[in-house]
Amino acid sequence: MSFSVDEKNRSSSNFFGSKRVAEDCLLIIFGGSGDLAKRKLFPALANLWVKKQMPEKFKIIAVGRKPMDVDALLSMGKYPEGFREHIQYVQTDYSPAGIAKLKSACHQVCKDTDIPPNYLHYLAVPPDGYAELAKALHDGGMVHPSKGKYWSRLIVEKPYGRDLESAIELDESLLSGFAEKQIYRIDHYLGKESVQNLLVFRFANSVFEPIWNHHYIDHIQINASEFLGVEERADYFDKSGVLRDMVQNHLMQIFCLVTMEPPVNLSAEAIRDEKVKVLRALRPIDVNAIPPMAVRGQYGPGEVKGQQVKGYRDEKGVAHGSSTETFVALRMHIDNLRWSGVPFYLRSGKRLARKGTEVVVTFKKLPNVLFNARGQNAQSNRIVFKIQPQEAILLELTSKNPGQSFELSDTSMNFCYSDHFDTSADAYERLLLDAILGDPTLFVRSDETELSWSFLDPLLRHWAEHPPRMFPNYRSGSNGPDEASDIILPTEQPTHWIDFSKWDNIC
Ligand SMILES: NC(=O)c1ccc[n+]([C@@H]2O[C@H](COP(=O)([O-])OP(=O)(O)OC[C@H]3O[C@@H](n4cnc5c(N)ncnc54)[C@H](OP(=O)(O)O)[C@@H]3O)[C@@H](O)[C@H]2O)c1
Repeated sequence: MSFSVDEKNRSSSNFFGSKRVAEDCLLIIFGGSGDLAKRKLFPALANLWVKKQMPEKFKIIAVGRKPMDVDALLSMGKYPEGFREHIQYVQTDYSPAGIAKLKSACHQVCKDTDIPPNYLHYLAVPPDGYAELAKALHDGGMVHPSKGKYWSRLIVEKPYGRDLESAIELDESLLSGFAEKQIYRIDHYLGKESVQNLLVFRFANSVFEPIWNHHYIDHIQINASEFLGVEERADYFDKSGVLRDMVQNHLMQIFCLVTMEPPVNLSAEAIRDEKVKVLRALRPIDVNAIPPMAVRGQYGPGEVKGQQVKGYRDEKGVAHGSSTETFVALRMHIDNLRWSGVPFYLRSGKRLARKGTEVVVTFKKLPNVLFNARGQNAQSNRIVFKIQPQEAILLELTSKNPGQSFELSDTSMNFCYSDHFDTSADAYERLLLDAILGDPTLFVRSDETELSWSFLDPLLRHWAEHPPRMFPNYRSGSNGPDEASDIILPTEQPTHWIDFSKWDNIC
């Protein structure tokens, strides 16, 4: 079975906002020589250019402190002819004199190309550089007032703080130079079509909207599993862990989209207001109940995809005897009318048996009459949102086996994005374009970040104060620590962590 797409009704417009014109501008990428810029940002900008979605006139000013040339910046990809001419590298530091040098280079570019001084600043530098750089830009006159002839916007990468206090501090620093509406906090999961589609699926389909609540839904699982270990990021990751790296931002954003109330309209503020409301309704973490509300883990050696791999503590750059968690499982509850009594399970880990990010909504079973009463176990219906690596929506149903008796089978209706749409665009393409257009819908507002940190802060503190005794507690290539099952509540049906691998090859 498969869903089909009505070609006539396919809309190419941006459903979150009205169409806007991409105004001519400079994209100023700090940390332009870094991994993110080379692997993600330049390729995304090149694709937008090829698709004619970039402004008519634009220049990319890559900024860094070390000497570099444009060929080296573009060394990690294949770029279309002519794209190189849109990039210039400016080597400078971020002292007042360094910013003055950058400003003068930008003025010169604007003069030579007739581009107005609209600046999209992208902080693709390590997080400890965000505040200082934003201040230097403001003090150096590279930030226009939020209402004026020209615009300035600031894209800030993750991680946004490492706890509530540091997130508030960062907000205060950035807000001293930029207005909130000029700040675009990026969470690249929001640039994924399948994540944006959560809202459309919920609020544009009359079959699903009325049943999206505690009357019909038994529980929801949100999962992000990785084959990869810490790779080259030990320096950053060992000070962060999965709770900060994956849960506070990506999984909490997905959680908000799955659980928020319908926005009053599709404006950025209306959507973000609803995300904030659901975060406010989260039941605070009870530090006397950890576990069973939260479980952490760290991988030991094992086998992943047929390869022997090291344990986390033996990875290059990881501190001796590190207590950093590479796995988290968390139970959450929302104390509002819609979700009362429905548990939400979030799980993320490295070096697991499979790679995949998905949301699975499990519906309540029907009463035990008819088929169930005859000893046949009609399974709960499920909706599965596959977010990566494939993007898909599946609806699991019970059907009758062909034949004279009423034998039941589990079946599923599958909708794979790639069967119907061009899904080649990377999340960074969408987000960069939105920032150029001045549409902040898919970026995170300061109160969302702060509420998400304030929810997780007690857990972070508790774990910091009570170092784990049993690390490593899961084998690489497994499904994580066994204790992760202890957080699952027996709801109306026996519940367990779902075996997500059964949907791995659906598309
Ligand atoms: N890489 C990814 O896939 C990825 C994914 C998600 C989020 N992020 C976030 O994106 C940002 C950039 O990531 P990245 O991997 O590209 O980082 P990176 O390679 O470590 O650093 C990027 C560049 O920043 C400059 N830099 C280093 N320290 C700095 C400082 N204190 N102040 C100003 N500039 C400094 C360096 O260039 P110069 O020495 O030439 O100035 C460096 O080449 C980080 O905040 C990261 O957390 C990255």
